[in-house]
Amino acid sequence: MKIKATIQNIADNAADLLIVGHFQDQTDNALITALGSELSAQLSQRLANADFTGKNGESLTLYNDKGQHIMIVGLGKNDKLTQTALYDISHKASATAAKTRCKTVATYLLSDTFESIDADQAVKLVVLGSSHGEYRYEDTKNFKEDNKHNLDTLEVFADENLHTYINQAKAMAEGVTAARHLGNNPPNIANPKYIAKFAEQIANKYDNVELDVLNHKQMKKMGMGALLAVGQGSHNKPKMVVLKYTGTDKKQAPVALVGKGITFDTGGISLKPGANMDEMKYDMCGAASVIGAFVAIAEMQLDINLLTIVPAVENMPDGKAYRPGDVITSYSGKTIEVLNTDAEGRMILCDALTYAQEFKPEVILDLATLTGACVVALGHQASAVMTKTDGLAQDVIQAGLQVHDRAWELPLWDEYQKQLDTSFADMQNIGGFPAGTITAGCFLSRFTEGQKWAHIDIAGTAWNNKKEGATGRPVAMLTQYLINQAG
Ligand code: BES
Ligand code: MN
Ligand code: ZN
Repeated sequence: MKIKATIQNIADNAADLLIVGHFQDQTDNALITALGSELSAQLSQRLANADFTGKNGESLTLYNDKGQHIMIVGLGKNDKLTQTALYDISHKASATAAKTRCKTVATYLLSDTFESIDADQAVKLVVLGSSHGEYRYEDTKNFKEDNKHNLDTLEVFADENLHTYINQAKAMAEGVTAARHLGNNPPNIANPKYIAKFAEQIANKYDNVELDVLNHKQMKKMGMGALLAVGQGSHNKPKMVVLKYTGTDKKQAPVALVGKGITFDTGGISLKPGANMDEMKYDMCGAASVIGAFVAIAEMQLDINLLTIVPAVENMPDGKAYRPGDVITSYSGKTIEVLNTDAEGRMILCDALTYAQEFKPEVILDLATLTGACVVALGHQASAVMTKTDGLAQDVIQAGLQVHDRAWELPLWDEYQKQLDTSFADMQNIGGFPAGTITAGCFLSRFTEGQKWAHIDIAGTAWNNKKEGATGRPVAMLTQYLINQAG
């Protein structure tokens, strides 16, 4: 779906479907009035009968004499409208619109002034919510003719001074869609090779993007023992996918985004239980989110330098697979005793994080569906941020708040580190039951000493359930963080 900013007034807009907001207790509606007296009379009648009151969640579709659908959606009370509600209302309206035969939709939700949401933020919520609602996974499913999505264009009305934000949000939405595409594709398709091919398409699209893919032989020569240990049980050989975007002076240090790209996580020899194992196709959502953010930045041509590093590996049980008890030498030279082959994310990330430092980045963020414990701690609402760098967690969390892609900080205190001690190596790869998300962060912190670095666990936020699939989170948060960095 194409997204376009417009300043055209509603009466002149020829879109097949127009989305208009209506607050609870609002008596007249200027937009509906602008569409003619007949519609206005219909709305008044519905309001009088109280079968439409403007409560959040309500919607009413009328038709005008030009055959346009006029979808009036309840916004609730203005001073009570939350970010979540505005996002959800936009989501639902465009999901409903996508199910009609309409090809073009115009949303006038932003013609209202919201008392509790800043205008720039409202713009992003409406664009991101609408794009999210329209998305449907279609890659490996056949749809009958009468169930095809026809919607191809969304026009977003807003004052001209807000169009920069529409364009930013549009780029974010593209990144979110790319991440959802990668996340939702099945593990027999979206394997390490597929991720490398996807990155190649991005590199071909923009002049200021370069791609470098390391294969397993190169990584072996370099000594990336931890990453290779995870991959050695699979026929799908590991790849390290490196995308470089140059948006400003080459001498300026890049921001590095590193994303866990386990294209399928069986647990390896420490095999996972069968129930819901299919969901481990989403174990590359860290990779999907950093690639999505990369797409958004390249789309916007933001004036920063960005480096996106994706270790893409499959974790399988096999005669050649790594085993519990193995001691592995990582790329950094530090040794790791493997006590559970299912704690594989940190094994591939530690080598990718060491590699990232060769590019002398200004700051490193890593994104990973790293621990089930993160879902226990924060559920599906917030990603977990861990860092030892002053102010970095706040910068990330604040960026998330701007685009309704929320995160929350967990501590990385040194006292947790001893849970990784072992007599047989520099560290073991699991920290036991207490604070599983934090000890995973502690493990990674040992490979990022002296760096400005934050780890973001997205195990609870990267996908929703079997029906909704990959959410594309936290592409919006990452992109907003980078926009804020660029100043
Ligand atoms: N990819 C999983 C984490 C995960 C599990 C994310 C369920 C979302 C839902 C990760 O590789 C893993 O298996 N982690 C283990 C770590 C443990 C062995 C220390 C876990 O969380 O159980
Ligand atoms: Mn695992
Ligand atoms: Zn995993």
